[in-house]
Amino acid sequence: MKPWMLLAFLTTIVLCHEPFQVIFEWKLIDFEWPSEEDRQYAVMRGDYKPANNFITTAKFWKDKMYLTLPRWKDGVPVTLGMTSAKPINSITAPKLEAFPTWDMQKLGNCTAFQLVHSMEIDVKGHMWILDTGRPTSLRESKADCSPRLVILDLEDNNKILRTYEFPEHVARRKTAYLNDIVLDHEDGGMAYITDTDTTDPGIIVYSLRDNNSWKIRHDSMRAKSEAVGFMVAKTHVINPVHVDGIALSPASSSNRQIYYSPLSSFHLYSIPVFALKNNMTNIDQYVKELGRKTSQTDGMAMSSTGVLYFGLLADDAIAMWDTKNTPFTVGQRIISRDHVLTQWPDSFAFDEDGNFWCVTNMLQNFLNNRVDINMPNYRLIRSRVNVKNYQYYENGTAPEFPDYIAGADFITPILAALLPTIFILIVK
Ligand SMILES: *[C@@H]1O[C@H](CO)[C@@H](O)[C@H](O)[C@H]1NC(C)=O
Ligand SMILES: *[C@@H]1O[C@H](CO)[C@@H](O)[C@H](O)[C@H]1NC(C)=O
Ligand SMILES: *[C@@H]1O[C@H](CO)[C@@H](O)[C@H](O)[C@H]1NC(C)=O
Ligand SMILES: *[C@@H]1O[C@H](CO)[C@@H](O)[C@H](O)[C@H]1NC(C)=O
Repeated sequence: MKPWMLLAFLTTIVLCHEPFQVIFEWKLIDFEWPSEEDRQYAVMRGDYKPANNFITTAKFWKDKMYLTLPRWKDGVPVTLGMTSAKPINSITAPKLEAFPTWDMQKLGNCTAFQLVHSMEIDVKGHMWILDTGRPTSLRESKADCSPRLVILDLEDNNKILRTYEFPEHVARRKTAYLNDIVLDHEDGGMAYITDTDTTDPGIIVYSLRDNNSWKIRHDSMRAKSEAVGFMVAKTHVINPVHVDGIALSPASSSNRQIYYSPLSSFHLYSIPVFALKNNMTNIDQYVKELGRKTSQTDGMAMSSTGVLYFGLLADDAIAMWDTKNTPFTVGQRIISRDHVLTQWPDSFAFDEDGNFWCVTNMLQNFLNNRVDINMPNYRLIRSRVNVKNYQYYENGTAPEFPDYIAGADFITPILAALLPTIFILIVK
């Protein structure tokens, strides 16, 4: 096929997909402060700078929507927020509540969240939160905590079920960037996490049962120089970004696959989950290059029916590919393109009611210090697809997610009980 033919093919927007509608739209993100004095004080001290607060991820549970605000610049008081999943009184720019509390947003306190870029909610209502451990802004780089995973229970007063700090050889304290996460119910529960570390990028695998982790590295996870620079809405973006978007084939698929792409890349890759689970040092024979996209991609998402959704940044477009029925090279299709509404499709989510959501945030403006808070900058757009996310079967039910009591949870007390005995043996 000639290149122009491919282009003509891809620009044909598939009409069977219901158009996206704007549901939320913010010029700037503000919060439900404990009091108006708190807000004024934060503004005065530079702890809240409206133009520096942007959203990357939205996830849904029951009637709530959870949003992440990475601390890339200073003046971001809340890194994990919450609001109603439906606009109340037609307010499309709601103020966000700090989630779970204001105390959990405190910079420099390693019990609190430092920089949350993404999270995932499993079918039981447990939220798996990625905390990179340090803001990437200069002023606040003194906060220095370990990159970690925190699991809390939305169905039980947001109780923290587990906190796992990644060891240095898995996620480096100085350079790690925990970017995105997908969950797998098999083998005691696994999480696959993209670490967009500037020097040591890779996919981190976390085992819930064993409460341990490792990192898989491969050249396909690194930024490609041909894709480092591009234009969005006449603004240049020049930034090498390693492995970023990640998706997992649906629960009903046998031989489940992870799909991924560095942001600075035109290629989509896949790897079977067994290769990741087995902590192989060389995964070369399992990595599949699936084909070329027309542009760079940030977040991705998979439906319960095996449809992969991804953004095309330089095209202001959202594309899809039915992974079950066609090869990527001929099966990818643009489903929506709008030079304003789909400027920088950052991430995607499905809710319980069969809606498919996309966060668009015009990130090129933020990266170039050009956010104009008198214009809409951040949007949540929605389309009806009548399917759920990859954690569900096609019939809408979900496989059981493993319990947290099994495995590592009871080993610790046993070890603790045995320690004095071991100590005595050694001393003798
Ligand atoms: C850190 O945050 C936790 C959770 O909010 C809180 O319990 C603890 O007292 C804080 N520590 C300090 C030193 O402020
Ligand atoms: C899991 O590992 C972390 C290490 O970061 C440890 O602090 C925690 O207690 C462990 N949890 C369980 C349930 O074993
Ligand atoms: C994974 O493999 C690496 C390299 O072989 C090794 O250093 C590490 O200990 C392994 N991790 C686990 C949890 O098995
Ligand atoms: C839904 O599909 C799964 C997997 O194919 C199957 O195990 C389950 O029994 C089905 N449930 C219903 C209610 O049909």
